[in-house]
Parts: sequence; C-alpha cells; structure tokens
Amino acid sequence: MRNKKILITGGAGFIGSHVVRLLVNKYPNYKIYNLDTLTYAGNLENLKDIERADNYSFLKADINDADLIHILFKEHQFDSVIHLAAESHVDRSISDPLAFVKTNVIGTMNLLNAALENWKDNFQNKLFYHISTDEVYGTLGETGLFTETTAYDPNSPYSASKAGSDHFVRAYGETYGLPYIISNCSNNYGPNQFPEKLIPLFINNIVNKKELPVYGDGKYTRDWLFVKDHAEAIDLAFHKGEIKETYNIGGFNEWQNIDLIQLLCEIMDKKLNRNEGDSAKLITYVKDRPGHDKRYAIDASKINKELGWKPSVTFEEGLEKTIDWYLENEVWLKNVTSGKYQEYYDKQYN
Ligand code: NAD
Ligand code: TYD
Repeated sequence: MRNKKILITGGAGFIGSHVVRLLVNKYPNYKIYNLDTLTYAGNLENLKDIERADNYSFLKADINDADLIHILFKEHQFDSVIHLAAESHVDRSISDPLAFVKTNVIGTMNLLNAALENWKDNFQNKLFYHISTDEVYGTLGETGLFTETTAYDPNSPYSASKAGSDHFVRAYGETYGLPYIISNCSNNYGPNQFPEKLIPLFINNIVNKKELPVYGDGKYTRDWLFVKDHAEAIDLAFHKGEIKETYNIGGFNEWQNIDLIQLLCEIMDKKLNRNEGDSAKLITYVKDRPGHDKRYAIDASKINKELGWKPSVTFEEGLEKTIDWYLENEVWLKNVTSGKYQEYYDKQYN
C-alpha cells in the first residue's frame, strides 16, 4: 500500500476523532495530520489513546487563517484532505450565522485554494474528501428519501453554509479539475459528542435530573447512525470512492424525536437504578426551533451497492454503547460542561 500524508481537519471533534483513530490504527504506514483550532467542540482528550502514535501529528490551526493553511500545505506536502472541521450545531447557527459562513464556507475555500495551489501540476493520487450532511437537502414530508440527486434546499444557516461549501468543492472539481469526493451523512450519535446535540444533552440532563427540553411537538424525524459506522464509511469512500462522486450515508434508522427520547429514558432508568418512568417525567415541551426541518431520511443504497458499506450496529446496540460511554466518562462530561457551556445553556434554554 502506498504511503499517504492525510490532512484531517476537525479531528479533535466528535466524528473527526473517530476518523483519526480509525486511520491511525488501521494504516501505520500513513501519516495522519489532525488540524484543529480547538473551538468549544474540539477536545484533545478525545484522542488520548493515540496521541503518541508514530504516524500521528496534531497541528493547532484555524482554517480561517489562509496564510497559515498555505504554509502548512507547503511544509507537510499533504496528498489528501479529509475535511470535517466546521461549526456544526443548528441552534448556534440561528444565533450567530456569520460564524458559520466564516468557518464552513470561507474556511473550506482556504483549504481548497491551498490544495489547488499545491496539487495543480499533478492531480494524480490527490484527493479532497469533503464531509457534509443530509441537511443540505432540506426537509421531507411523510414519505420519500434523500438520494444523491435530490436538489439542495437548505433551511437553516448551518445547512445553508454546508451547502455553500459543498458547491464550492464541486465547482473546484469542474473548474480547476481538483479531485474531490463528497459524502452527505445523517445524524450521528455515539461517544465523544458534545452535549449540545440531542442525545448527549439528554443523557447529561437525565443524569443530573434536569428538564429534557423537547422542541415543538417532538414529532420531528431524524435518521440516526452510530459514529463508528460513519467513520468506516468515510474510510471506504476515501479509498474506494469514485472521484467527483457524492455518497449518501445513513442508518436506515428513522426515529421521531419523542419516541427516541422515551427509549432513552427507559434505558437510563434501568442503568441508573431509578424507578420506571422517572426520567420520562423530566420531558418538557419548549418553544420550537425556528425553521425546524420536519424529517430527514437518507437513501444509502448507492454506497451500499457500489462500495459494500452498511451499518454494523442496530440503534438499540449503539444507543446502549453510547449511554455506557457517557456514564463511564463522567470526568470528560464534567470538563466539557464547565465554564462556557453553562453560558450557552442558559442563553439557549432559559
Ligand atoms: P463537532 O462540532 O463535534 O467538531 C468540529 C471540529 O472542528 C471541532 O474539533 C472544532 O474545534 C473544529 N473546528 C471548528 N472550527 C474550526 C476552524 N475554524 N478551524 C479548525 N478547526 C475548527 O462536529 P462533528 O459533529 O464532529 O461534525 C464533523 C463534520 O461532519 C462537520 O463538517 C459536520 O457538518 C459533518 N456532519 C456532522 C453530522 C452530525 O450528526 N454530527 C452529520 C453529518 C455531517
Ligand atoms: P440536533 O441533535 O441538534 O441535530 P439536528 O438539528 O442537526 O438534526 O437535534 C436533533 C433533533 O432533536 C432535532 O429535531 C431538534 C431536536 N432537539 C430538541 O427537541 N431539543 C433539544 O434540546 C435539541 C438540542 C434538539
């Protein structure tokens, strides 16, 4: 196998840390560079177990700093990029949309420009792999699935900024010949997710006997995928995917929020030796999220048929593993929920 020098951006975040670990352990002859500016969502604790590996380096850098990104490309001569760094939370995008344009659109442009500058004389064996979301497709009614040809129709500042970045990646492919792949994935869950997203937020609140703030009527639907299955899909698409192709990745696993929350409450009651129904009593319906997308559902048959990928764990197994991880990693949870987290929480929910 050829040696590769892969730049992974956002590797200290939730999905990025699982991708970094997988590639560092699986490909000892590759050199994996994790570039991350360590926002509130980035945490090097996520990578403690591999931080001393010979084939791993951490680069603290902001993708908004175009000059620094150019310098790092020149210095390390990356031959591939797996780009995950982003502002990723819809609620934050509603209160501060510009931060999302900066990192998700301009930051992606800075990476594209640096890759192009360094690779333009020889695109062979080069790849810009851009990680995106199903949210760019907008919202579905009761039926239907997002496919790779569904028209983009983003509704939140987050999804609009991700759609913008996807378009630029494609445009660099068409205009300058930059070799790229894009994948659009459904909602991820699992260990190391920052407790602002539904599942870890609710696990943390149940542990602390705090209200569970359900937006609107709770009848919104998401398709959930265990994060390690997403990391496996990224590994596969990175190595076997066709240049200029898009792959939808999903769990074939739709849940209405309120049903998922009820299941979470039931499992948590058992794990915490509480009476059946105790956690569900914390459910509180709150004001809806503006522009709340009703339903996301992914048709992942292309990556299944062409690359042979499918999820490896059921939702019940994945959720149980996730809950166990949060219960066993109290210190991690305490560290990330101290300080700034309380400010965010009070602003968002009080
Ligand atoms: P996350 O918020 O947990 O992590 C983002 C990481 O990017 C953090 O480590 C953060 O420090 C880093 N980062 C942010 N701004 C940066 C900047 N300017 N320069 C350098 N680093 C920066 O996000 P996540 O949930 O792991 O998502 C990763 C990617 O996957 C994102 O592109 C997201 O849009 C996409 N995605 C996420 C999901 C999901 O359910 N979480 C689903 C589909 C796609
Ligand atoms: P989230 O985890 O923020 O992911 P996304 O908005 O990217 O799908 O939210 C998942 C679903 O849960 C979404 O329909 C919004 C809902 N939700 C709540 O009801 N309460 C909350 O406190 C949060 C964070 C989300």
